[in-house]
Amino acid sequence: MGDIGLPASIPPVVVSSETSPPPPPPAKNKLFLGTFIHSKTLGLLEYLHKTAVAVNSLGTVVAISPDTDLTTAQTVLLPQLGWSPDTTDITTAKPNQFFFPGFIDTHLHASQYPNAGLFGNSTLLDWLNTYTFPLEASLSELSKAKKVYSRVIAKTLSHGTTTAAYYATIDVAATNLLADLCLASGQRALIGRVCMDQLGPSYYLDESPGESITKTKQCIEHVLQQDPKMELITPVITPRFAPACSAPLMTQLGQLAKETNLPIQTHISENKNEIALVGRLFPDAGGSYAEVYDTFGLLTPKTILAHAVHLTDKEADLVRERGSKVSHCPCSNSAIASGAARVRWLLDKGIEVGLGTDVSGGYSVSVLEAARQAVLVSRHVCMDEGRSGEEREKLSVEELVGLCEVDSDEEGEEEGNVDVFGWESWEERVAKWVYNGDDRNTKKVWVRGRLVHERR
Ligand code: GUN
Ligand code: FE
Repeated sequence: MGDIGLPASIPPVVVSSETSPPPPPPAKNKLFLGTFIHSKTLGLLEYLHKTAVAVNSLGTVVAISPDTDLTTAQTVLLPQLGWSPDTTDITTAKPNQFFFPGFIDTHLHASQYPNAGLFGNSTLLDWLNTYTFPLEASLSELSKAKKVYSRVIAKTLSHGTTTAAYYATIDVAATNLLADLCLASGQRALIGRVCMDQLGPSYYLDESPGESITKTKQCIEHVLQQDPKMELITPVITPRFAPACSAPLMTQLGQLAKETNLPIQTHISENKNEIALVGRLFPDAGGSYAEVYDTFGLLTPKTILAHAVHLTDKEADLVRERGSKVSHCPCSNSAIASGAARVRWLLDKGIEVGLGTDVSGGYSVSVLEAARQAVLVSRHVCMDEGRSGEEREKLSVEELVGLCEVDSDEEGEEEGNVDVFGWESWEERVAKWVYNGDDRNTKKVWVRGRLVHERR
């Protein structure tokens, strides 16, 4: 990535030694043996039994070897790779266990984790004022931010989330702390400082568009200092949502995205009152929420749009044309009564869709919970008036697993809340895990070859 063009007036970002991550221990080569299940294409799972996967010390998969047990691996595969058994970590899955790609949570607010499950009867705009802004503002106290961010990282890792697209807060130091903690714990993450210069309470607002941009650049600079090649953490330009961002701010954020080629994340078309507000604030867009973002250059192939519940046909076409992606957040959309996103319709339009927990609009950090809620929401879309016969609306387990996205590995086991009797096919085991599984089924999690979570 090129020069991000930081103006000289920005003071250097000071990182206290307390927040600097210790360097991770040097990784060893790894060999994984057993059953591997992954999504080949949307709706199609591949089951690889008695397979060996070799991952080098940099975390790159260097060999996938079918029909390989421990003896074959030791006598044939390791010599082929030039690896000695002493310097290779070997993990063998038990008969009921399987390796599965890590989950990518495409939308969650790290700063809102303490509020998971707290939303009462609110809907989006009053929820923001009552629950969300006060909590986010309070994380400018770094000791509190450290506690919250450490816990959300540990918790998401324990549920198999190997990559998270995080919103932090408007605070630079706390956002940088989130980046440091992700790096230290080995979780791959997009780190977004929240930009908002209007709508919020006076105690929780960027003072001006200029200040918002300066602070955003400070966070970008910090992430790039810590991880120059963005191997684990990546800055993400984060206008909170159109109602909270003035036109000058969105103009400059669009320019920043163009200069840096960094990803963008924001919310779109989540709630009907919010959409009406966007219509009043940006009358030139003719009632099109997507058009507002597009005007400011914020719809790019690297943009994650959370929710997209009430998009019109024309808006969806625009999103598709720009190549932007949608984060489907079914848990949140049901909890704060935003609506039922039409995922099949989005997919049919050719828009890429991933799953987001949207903590704390959503009550659970688990991507598996998001997957099962997505199944149920798709049934409700199907049952909606005028759509009762449309079986195609329903998402399948295989598609849901595909929407979970793929990343580094996790190893799951059929126990905890899932009773396996032994006669189930592998397809049935996966379905039982999707509908009843939780963190008890996630034994070990690796990111780039590094073990980042182990359930004892
Ligand atoms: N729209 C603007 N901010 C937020 C937020 O924090 N959560 C959700 N779900 N929607 C938003
Ligand atoms: Fe959100």
